[in-house]
Amino acid sequence: MAKASTTSSPELVFATNNQHKLDEIRQILDGQIHILSLADIGCHVDIPETADTLQGNALQKARYVASHYNMDCFADDTGLEVAALDGAPGVHSARYAGGQGHDSQANMDLLLHNMEKKSDRKARFRTVIALIIKGEEHLFEGIVNGKILTERHGTDGFGYDPVFQPDGFDCTFAEMTASQKNAISHRGRATQKLVQFLTSLT
Ligand code: IMP
Repeated sequence: MAKASTTSSPELVFATNNQHKLDEIRQILDGQIHILSLADIGCHVDIPETADTLQGNALQKARYVASHYNMDCFADDTGLEVAALDGAPGVHSARYAGGQGHDSQANMDLLLHNMEKKSDRKARFRTVIALIIKGEEHLFEGIVNGKILTERHGTDGFGYDPVFQPDGFDCTFAEMTASQKNAISHRGRATQKLVQFLTSLT
């Protein structure tokens, strides 16, 4: 159930405090829907992500906000799925090399090590967005196919960007501008589907 809006446009919580993700969707929506961060609604807990699928984690985060704050909400989860590694690191992408997670250099080192003798280099990034609006759940998926290189190329981006080359390109995500990457990326594609759905409601 949506909270009464204090602005002229409807409000929707994005279950994240990642400023880059917030800026991106606010720019696409251009004020048609007012996007609130977790900080904006006073949510300062680390929302559990304990499911074993991307869909499960995205739903878990969105349901947490919907049930604790009684607001419409969406959440995302992303994984790098490598064919020769049976889909790993997948849902464990952030913490592939262990530790507290988000150590991109350690994660890439482990990935390159595990791929050393693999001739099949196929991989994909997959993002799932879970939206809960007016009490109903909706899922949106974005995929970009590509391959894992044998060494890092480029310095832009984050996570596994320096070792991932999308199909149809001769450079990695880390060698693209943000707008080039957003136009074809997993998250960009899932976000486009979400935005299309949301703007059809307004
Ligand atoms: P999250 O669900 O967006 O937090 O993504 C989980 C993990 O997947 C991140 O910590 C990164 O390691 C990896 N990841 C997600 N999106 C990207 C991307 O666009 N490029 C490279 N790595 C990514």
